[in-house]
Amino acid sequence: MLETTSLPSIPTALCERLRVARHVTVLTGAGISAESGIPTFRDPRTGLWAKYDFADLATRAGFKRNPQLVWDWTTELHATMVRAEPNPAHRALVAMENALPAFTLLTQNVDNLHQRAGSRNMWELHGNITRYKCFEEDLPVDTWPATDERPPRCTRCGGHIRHDIVWFGELLSTTVLAAAEQALQTCDVFFAIGTSFEVHPASTFARRASQHGAIIVIISLDITNYAAPDLYRFNAPAGCMLPALVQATWPEAAV
Ligand code: OAD
Repeated sequence: MLETTSLPSIPTALCERLRVARHVTVLTGAGISAESGIPTFRDPRTGLWAKYDFADLATRAGFKRNPQLVWDWTTELHATMVRAEPNPAHRALVAMENALPAFTLLTQNVDNLHQRAGSRNMWELHGNITRYKCFEEDLPVDTWPATDERPPRCTRCGGHIRHDIVWFGELLSTTVLAAAEQALQTCDVFFAIGTSFEVHPASTFARRASQHGAIIVIISLDITNYAAPDLYRFNAPAGCMLPALVQATWPEAAV
């Protein structure tokens, strides 16, 4: 049985809206994986960008300056992400997907935890740290010969290999952006979970969905001044709040 006593109360009206929803779109950010032990980016104490300089570690210019530094740092982050396990919030989104006629998950996370939890209709806005590509050609790379060189080199062109994640200043996939836009225009409920609304274009998604008539649900630990006509916000950990919300809405759901 879930312990819900310290959570914000769940309005019955929201559960009713969810039960009749035809399409729910969910945007997730680093906060949904925090309870899996993966640091967020902007927590003032433990956030990655509080401790490290993103310009050195997450830009093309940084990689050109010092590819080994970027490779080693990202490889360590990859190891943290591979060791982590999906948490109850990731699993609650799978239960939500199973309960709804249509469901789209847009994630800014590169940690692969939604996939490992079993989410299906999912789009990765910022790539996936478990995949690799050639820095020069921007084409996928699956394997490379054993080498001590860091980063290893692409067998096609000899360029450096990098993790397949989106760095600051890089463009997002047009296919993913088109899918996101479609999902924002057609959803009747939009969730933003564990994101600070700091990074474009995901920062605009709630507003886009709201313009198309969706009700907005925000789950995070921040008190932001985001306002929308039809807004529910829960300042609570996603790993407790989401399972409670799914269970309150669909009591028969396996959460
Ligand atoms: P941030 O670190 O900016 O924000 C994390 C959000 O999660 C904050 O609003 C926290 O309050 C919230 N949070 C933390 N723990 C939580 C929990 N247990 N339950 C619910 N919410 C929680 O992360 P993002 O918004 O994902 O981009 O950052 C966006 C992008 O900035 C990332 O995808 C990354 C980064 O630079 C790239 O790498 C391209």
